[in-house]
Amino acid sequence: MHDEQVVAKAINIHTQTYGTKPTAVAYAPGRVEVLGNHTDYNEGTVLSAAINMGHCFCISASDKPGVRLTAGDLMETTKFDPASDERLPKNVQWANYVKGVMFYLRGQDVEIDSVDCTFLGSIPMGAGLSSSAALEVATAYAVLEYTGKKLDKKEVGILAQAAENNFAGCNCGLLDQFSSIFGVHHGLIHSDFRSLETGPVKLPGDVVFLMINPHIKHALADSPYNARHESCEKAAAELGALLDHPVTTLRDVSWEEFEANKDKIDPEAAQRATHVIGEITRVEKGVKLLAEGQLEAFGQLLYDSHETSRTAFENSCEELDIVVEATREAGALGARLSGGGWGGSVVALVHAANAKSICEKIVKACKAKGIHPTAETIIPSAGAIVIK
Ligand code: GLA
Repeated sequence: MHDEQVVAKAINIHTQTYGTKPTAVAYAPGRVEVLGNHTDYNEGTVLSAAINMGHCFCISASDKPGVRLTAGDLMETTKFDPASDERLPKNVQWANYVKGVMFYLRGQDVEIDSVDCTFLGSIPMGAGLSSSAALEVATAYAVLEYTGKKLDKKEVGILAQAAENNFAGCNCGLLDQFSSIFGVHHGLIHSDFRSLETGPVKLPGDVVFLMINPHIKHALADSPYNARHESCEKAAAELGALLDHPVTTLRDVSWEEFEANKDKIDPEAAQRATHVIGEITRVEKGVKLLAEGQLEAFGQLLYDSHETSRTAFENSCEELDIVVEATREAGALGARLSGGGWGGSVVALVHAANAKSICEKIVKACKAKGIHPTAETIIPSAGAIVIK
């Protein structure tokens, strides 16, 4: 389900700003991470969903060289050379996601120049719902449509990730871009970030996800995200030296092998790896439990995931912990922080019939603790599309 309102608005802003209708328009959704935290860059597995909020990107031809880009929410316009690999300054940081994608598309023989562009999104910024990945993917889809070129979906994800890594400064994995591309209507995406295969996972008809956003500032590039990435690499290297098979990433270490060797490696790296290896194990359990319709047990995995985020990976924060606790007390099947952490949103699994009353209870309980979250139902949605 794409956000038709944001598409209509983006087209309108584009037409008013440049005096001409866009000839290529694409839309890409944000994502919610359901299980499998910080596993993507460890070549692990994840369960995620694309959501019913996203970014729309519009393009029309211009008679001047370069790219003119308007951020529809700020109503600010900037210009850049799509062939240069220079990052734009902080005051137009938002344009770097687009510039990065255009730059890496050139490496795939998809050249764009002399264009006017506009983007607009409906994903709240800093909510941990991957608004930047949605912008990157929408940009790539629109540019491909405009230039009449085709690229494999995985290639699109990989180059959008390169834009995020090198133009936005976050050393993230592929989860956000893949979720935006491979989303399934009312279903989850099961991704394997070693083989880069993705597949749909059915959700029972009577459950929905809630997104509870305590509205705390969140910017992964300024967070310990990159430091955690390094700790995981360190854990993999040290475990590799102890095990009798090759270890490239934490994906190569089973829970049993980890348990037997964790005390022999750097304590901090071991602590971070507890969460990641535990998550990879939980994703596989979760897929089986969903297939068997064991929702309570599946929900418990979400709570378990949040617990090791809090205690071992230390990527939670007080507000998220309060929200998860309030969600548990309100009767959700499961809840956990979703995405990078250190802010962002909590995702919860609930029976559809209880969604409204659970949202009300969460908001009330959080208010009593001085937090004012918004809680809403999210619709797992299809992936990115070309509108025209
Ligand atoms: C962010 C990153 C993803 C992933 C998650 C944590 O969303 O962009 O690549 O690492 O955090 O699972």
